[in-house]
Amino acid sequence: MKPSALRLLFCAALALPALATGDALSPERQTELETLLYQDCGSCHGMTLRGGLGPSLPRDRMAGFTTEALAHIILQGIPGSAMPGWKALISEADARWLAEHLQTDNPLETLAVPPRPGEQE
Ligand code: HEC
Repeated sequence: MKPSALRLLFCAALALPALATGDALSPERQTELETLLYQDCGSCHGMTLRGGLGPSLPRDRMAGFTTEALAHIILQGIPGSAMPGWKALISEADARWLAEHLQTDNPLETLAVPPRPGEQE
């Protein structure tokens, strides 16, 4: 993503009315959202989020965004790119749950190659 687009996105995210915070979603909805994440989002970002048509979404990179900015990307998409907005299909609480899942519960921790045994960090 180009820096200017990133700045725009953060401004837009700040201008958004406060998204619902920490609304507990039902376990059924959480399962549906996980399926959405690894299958639908996974069709572009890879089933293990390692990237494909869309970039990889490792936990360490996702943690560099605010949860609000990530939820905004998920709801609105990224104009001028293949990243679609999902607001017709999911609620703001859903998007926030997905954002938090990407930041904290994401099985893909990092893309960084771990040092080999004996190698200095
Ligand atoms: C049709 C393909 C496609 C689908 C489906 C898709 N994405 Fe994306 N996504 C992209 C592309 C392409 C980009 C990179 C856009 C750019 O910055 O040029 C992107 C970017 C992103 C980013 C920003 C990544 C970064 O590091 O800058 C996030 C977060 C993201 N997508 C999450 C999701 C989630 C969550 C879903 C499912 C709800 C999803 N995407 C579904 C194609 C897709």
